[in-house]
Order: sequence, then C-alpha cells, then structure tokens
Amino acid sequence: MSQRTLVLLKPDAVRRGLVGEILRRVESKAGWTITALELRTLDRAILEQHYAEHQGRPFYEPLVEFMSSGPSVAMVVSGERVVEGVRALAGPTDPIQATPGSIRGDYGTIVRENLIHASDSEESAEREMKIFFPGLI
Ligand code: RTP
Ligand code: MG
Repeated sequence: MSQRTLVLLKPDAVRRGLVGEILRRVESKAGWTITALELRTLDRAILEQHYAEHQGRPFYEPLVEFMSSGPSVAMVVSGERVVEGVRALAGPTDPIQATPGSIRGDYGTIVRENLIHASDSEESAEREMKIFFPGLI
C-alpha cells in the first residue's frame, strides 16, 4: 500500500549535523523515495497549525520555542506503508524508551529534542502535507 507522510527533521537534528544520517536511513528502505524537501525555519504561525492538537498542554510553549529555534528540514516521503514505517524508524516519543537502532534511540536523550516528527496516520499526513507543501498535488 503506497502512502505519503510528512516528516520534519527538527532543529536539534539540523544543528547536530544528523540530516545526512537520517536521510540515509529513510532512503535505504526499499522503494521509499523523498518526493519533496525543504530547509526552513518554522515560524509560530505554521507551528500553531502543525501542533494544534497540543495547544494548551504544558509542553506546548517550550515545544513551539524549540521548533522555531533554527532551521528544520521538512519533507514528504512516499512508498510502501511509510506512515507506520517512518514512525517505526523514529521510535517512541521518549528517546530513552526508544530502542537502540531507531533514530530517537540512537541519538536522543530528552523528550522535546527528539530529532524527528512523522505523521501518525494517513489523515494526519494529508493535513500536515497541506501545511508544509501547499502546492503539492
Ligand atoms: P511528533 O508529533 O513530533 O512526531 O512526536 P510524537 O507523535 O512522538 O509525540 P507527540 O505526543 O505528538 O508530541 C509532539 C512533540 O512534542 C514534544 N513533547 N514534549 N512532556 C513533554 O515534554 C513533551 N511531550 C511531547 C516532543 O518533541 C514530541 O515529539
Ligand atoms: Mg505527534
């Protein structure tokens, strides 16, 4: 089942020079391709849309602060079961709980700075792709 998903390499991943390493893991999966990619600093307006579900939670303000602290890489990944698949490559939200071998498990320690975002369902992917790549068909 071919799908598309919206992936963000968060400012910590860009600052630490891990973009190439993370892209390598994504590109290495058979049949997966990067179909859109942009380096950009995310502003408050776009982050409010992207993280609308978390508005009002205690971690929301520090999250928006962190996510706007430097450039991120926004991309669309296409291929077989990419929604579930990129979430599996990333590992769970808390990097200490994430298995070594996953991106968060290999490179992260704290929950906020967990390197990567990936859409959690096909519906979220549709919504998020429109936010970051409104021109995409
Ligand atoms: P994401 O949306 O970034 O792919 O991550 P996720 O689904 O694994 O986690 P989610 O619950 O959607 O939370 C979004 C991001 O908010 C930060 N966070 N901080 N308690 C905390 O301090 C806390 N909880 C969440 C993380 O950066 C998380 O990825
Ligand atoms: Mg999420």
